[in-house]
Amino acid sequence: MVSEHAAAQVLVASNRGPVTYTLSEDGSLDARRGGGGLVSGLSAIGSEAEALWVCAALGDGDREAVRRGVGEPGVLMLDIDEAVHSDAYNGIANSVLWFVHHMLYQTPLEPVFDKEFRRQWASYETYNRAFAEALAAQAAEGAAVLVQDYHLALVPGMLRELRPDLRIGHFSHTPWAPVDYFRMLPDDIAEQLLRGLLGADRTCFLTRRWADAFVSCCTELLGGTGGTAIGVHGLGADADFLRKRAHRPDVDERLAALREQIGPGRKTIVRVDRTELSKNIVRGLLAYRQLLETRPEWRERVVHVAFAYPSRQDLAVYRDYTVEVQRVADEINSAYGTEGWTPVVLHVKDDFARSLAAYRLADVALVNPIRDGMNLVAKEIPLVSEAGCALVLSREAGAHEELGEDAVTVNPYDVSGTADALHAALTMPDDERSRHTERLATAATALPPQKWFLDQLRALREGA
Ligand code: G6P
Repeated sequence: MVSEHAAAQVLVASNRGPVTYTLSEDGSLDARRGGGGLVSGLSAIGSEAEALWVCAALGDGDREAVRRGVGEPGVLMLDIDEAVHSDAYNGIANSVLWFVHHMLYQTPLEPVFDKEFRRQWASYETYNRAFAEALAAQAAEGAAVLVQDYHLALVPGMLRELRPDLRIGHFSHTPWAPVDYFRMLPDDIAEQLLRGLLGADRTCFLTRRWADAFVSCCTELLGGTGGTAIGVHGLGADADFLRKRAHRPDVDERLAALREQIGPGRKTIVRVDRTELSKNIVRGLLAYRQLLETRPEWRERVVHVAFAYPSRQDLAVYRDYTVEVQRVADEINSAYGTEGWTPVVLHVKDDFARSLAAYRLADVALVNPIRDGMNLVAKEIPLVSEAGCALVLSREAGAHEELGEDAVTVNPYDVSGTADALHAALTMPDDERSRHTERLATAATALPPQKWFLDQLRALREGA
């Protein structure tokens, strides 16, 4: 049933919304932009009239904002029961689905799909249903609904039942697991996930590789994809925004501080990530350590600038990983550091302006994920770096499909290979490096977020 107030013509649904609120000690609420590629891509929704972004309240700050009726225009935050949200987000989405698609399990001991998993799965269903119901209540007749990511995999199917009139799209910002890995999930759960996504008119991925993996799963488990169209929409960087933002005074200030910390005449290897298991930060540090060990000519002449911002800290495995990143960085600094040279400059507190300052300074960008849906940092650094930068890029990042030819490609598990790649990148002749940087920048901006969003919307509507 379409309610009288249902007016939204375009709806987006995602777990994380465009802003997060934090509650300060004095009781005021501070709004901050949400992190990750999904929020970057969806920022284009702002240009659509009669659009609504439905997201979850994610912490005490967000919940308080909902209670006080504080919010952004065009954003509906759902205050889902905290325990249900935690089971769905921490338990299923981030500890199961994220692990499956990024192939992160240490398989002799995990995963274990037991009673506790089934309990959390019930919460995942409840949480998906809350989104489906909110969307059903807010969407105008025939509206387009773009559902995002693995948190909301059941929403398309649920929404289809509630509102058959809607045009429904789903977008996965992650990789999709190869069929043998996906089949670790209990059969009924695997089927429910696939059927949930196939409830959409179009289900979309960042690269052909992930789309093909999804189709293989559907073919093997369900015999096909039914009438659902499969789309591929790569996502690029927002060049205008980034270049302008990177030259604001707050970035200049941080650039000066970083230069001071690095010391004059030194090359930089820059990485910026959430402290995320799939980003492979520890192996990046190990490769850097091996570089210093085996090619002593780099000692005192290079600094590894690693920004690793806190992520999913409710999960012990993420907290442990953060500790390990810090431990290995400290170890390198005590083994090799000298009075005037700190080999690793590691920052773990989120600061967007400082990230942009590091982008500007980069001689080498290190992007070596184990697996990654796309990885926007690989696209952003070459755009912003002042001297042009050589990109060391994992072949397992979605961005490799577009950027691979102009990058130094690495196997993310191969620490020695990565150390060699860092050396090759650091010694790349200037003319070669600027040629690559120019081509990387062109490729990185070929699919700006606005286009990514509007192309999907058009395709969804045209299929009507
Ligand atoms: C990835 C996911 C997004 C998620 C982001 C940040 O990019 O695809 O859906 O929002 O990571 O993770 P978080 O758990 O903090 O939302």
